[in-house]
Amino acid sequence: MTQSQTLPDHVGIIMDGNGRWATARGLSRNRGHKRGAEVFGEIVRHAKRLGIPYLTVYAFSTENWNRPPQEVAGIMDLLRGYLRDADRYRKENVQTQIIGDKAQLDADLVEMIAKVEEGSRNNTGIHVNIALNYGGRDELVHAARKIAAMILEGSIPLQSVDHSMLERCLYTAGQPDVDLIIRTGGEQRVSNFLLWQGAYAEFVFTPTLWPDFTAADLDAALEEFSRRERRMGGI
Ligand code: IPE
Ligand code: IPE
Ligand code: MG
Repeated sequence: MTQSQTLPDHVGIIMDGNGRWATARGLSRNRGHKRGAEVFGEIVRHAKRLGIPYLTVYAFSTENWNRPPQEVAGIMDLLRGYLRDADRYRKENVQTQIIGDKAQLDADLVEMIAKVEEGSRNNTGIHVNIALNYGGRDELVHAARKIAAMILEGSIPLQSVDHSMLERCLYTAGQPDVDLIIRTGGEQRVSNFLLWQGAYAEFVFTPTLWPDFTAADLDAALEEFSRRERRMGGI
C-alpha cells in the first residue's frame, strides 16, 4: 500500500477454497474452515490498519445448506467461537454486523449475534459485515416484502418507491455500495453475493485458496483496484 493509492470505502470478500485447501492436505473440510476463520481474523485486523471503513465477508450463503449436515454444523460452531469472544470487539474496536436471514439460524446463535451487534455498535475502527445465511436474491425479496407491506398499510405511496428506499430496506442500509469484490479460490462468479450493492463493483479474482490468503494478498488486490478506471456509465 502506497500513500497515494485510492482506498475503496467498502470491500467485499468471497472467502472461497477452504474445502480444497483441506482436501489437498488430507484433512477434513472442516479443518479448512477452521484455518479460514483464523485468516478472516487476520484480514479484518489488516483492513482496519489500512483504514478501510467497511468490509463484508461471505461466510455462509443461502445455498450452503446444501452441504452435508456435519460441515454446516462445523461452520456454525466456528461462527459461535468468533462471536463468543466478545472481548475482542472492545479491544479491536470492530463494529460487527451479521447480514442475512437470521430466521433459519439456531436460537443460541441468534442471541449471540444480537449481543455482539449491540456490544460493538459504537466501535469506530472498521465496520465488518459477516454474511451468514446470506443471498443477494433473498435480500431483495425481503426488501420487496417490506416495501409491499408499507404500501399495503398505506404508510407510503407507490410513487415513493425508488433506489434509495430499496437501499434502506437492504441488510446493508446506510452503508456505501461495495467498490471492490475479491474472490479467492479461482472461481470467477458472484455466487449470489451483494447483487444490488455490487452493481458497479470492481472484481479481483485470485487462484489463492482462502486459507492461504495473506495481508500482502489484500494489499495486492487494493493496488489492482487503485489502477482500475471506474466510469460508472460515463466516459
Ligand atoms: C468457502 O470455501 C467457505 C464456504 C462456502 C462456507 P468452500 O468450502 O466453498 O471451499 P471449496 O470451494 O470447496 O474449496
Ligand atoms: C460462495 O462460495 C459462498 C461463500 C464463500 C460463503 P461457494 O463455494 O458456496 O460458491 P459456489 O458453489 O462455488 O458458486
Ligand atoms: Mg467453494
